[in-house]
Amino acid sequence: MRKILSSLAVAGLVLTLAACGSEEEVSVKSNVGATVGIALPTTKNARWNADGKAMVEQFQAMGYNVNLKFAENDTENQRKQVKAMIDEGDKLLVISAIDGGSLTGVLAEAAKKNVKVIAYDRLLTNTNDVSYQATFDNHQVGVLQGKVLVERLGVDTGKDGPFRVELFAGSATDVNAKSFYDGSMEVLKPYIESGQIVVPSGEIAFKKVTTKDYSDVLAQARMERLLKTYYKNRRVNAVLSPYDGMTIGIINGLKKNGYGQGNRPLPWTSGQDAEIPSVQSIIAGEQTETIFKDTRELAKVAVQMGNALLTGSKPIVNDTVSFDNGVKIVPTYLLYPVAVDETNYEGLLLKSGFYNEKQLKS
Ligand code: BGC
Repeated sequence: MRKILSSLAVAGLVLTLAACGSEEEVSVKSNVGATVGIALPTTKNARWNADGKAMVEQFQAMGYNVNLKFAENDTENQRKQVKAMIDEGDKLLVISAIDGGSLTGVLAEAAKKNVKVIAYDRLLTNTNDVSYQATFDNHQVGVLQGKVLVERLGVDTGKDGPFRVELFAGSATDVNAKSFYDGSMEVLKPYIESGQIVVPSGEIAFKKVTTKDYSDVLAQARMERLLKTYYKNRRVNAVLSPYDGMTIGIINGLKKNGYGQGNRPLPWTSGQDAEIPSVQSIIAGEQTETIFKDTRELAKVAVQMGNALLTGSKPIVNDTVSFDNGVKIVPTYLLYPVAVDETNYEGLLLKSGFYNEKQLKS
């Protein structure tokens, strides 16, 4: 009986194929109203909520269903969420991995079912089963973060040094964390080598300065430890931080130790994501700068790519050489990050409609 049924099913499929045209056309037609699975790292950092919201709106406007999941920085949880998306029949996956190399097995299952995969913001490594990537130039993020410290310290304008700087990096599992750090060090290293910048803690190697899950609490605790251990009779002049939440933690740690008052000004600080507390802190003259990544634009790129994949056309990319994931070069659409400080936040964040004035009032 089962044999008869399955041969009937095959015959049915052949008939459908014959009636509708090529196999490609059939799969494209079956993608009308398909479900897109979106797997993001966490709800804790504001940007991922914004990315999720923008993608849901845009995919829905095109007639797709969306299955959005956040894994709260738990790698195994994210693997399970992606597996469930595949099992439930989602036709496209958009993934921002907590650990870029940890999804190889589950992505192979996606490939078997012809489910296409887009790496969102963070590269998926050690896999052949990723079709495209949509991201920002994250090396450039790091360069901009290093540059603001050098400029504000006045290292090149003859101000007296050496300047004392401490370094923080993001989560060791996030491929982007190393890109930010390498970009920043490209700027800072020559000054460290010439002695114009010193790092009193000696904690310089990437592995020594990473921060689990980009945690504000851990960043604050480390800042306080550094101050108590290495800054008893001297002042820290600048702190490299890869992400706004961490910068706020670092500033809290500094304030608890007497910075931001009297003859102890807060050091120059970097950040990323233009989160509301950080923009408010910039306006208040505390945090120095953040890096704005317009998540509306990134979502647009990913949705364009996803729709192209689901409708059988070719996604637009602008980089086919830079992103080697260890197995292949992943064709990418790269967007450019912008540095934001007290001089330009109005144009970039308010006039652009990213935030309204009320949101930025503290
Ligand atoms: C993203 C940053 C974000 C960080 C922490 C990185 O992968 O590119 O924009 O600040 O993760 O969530």
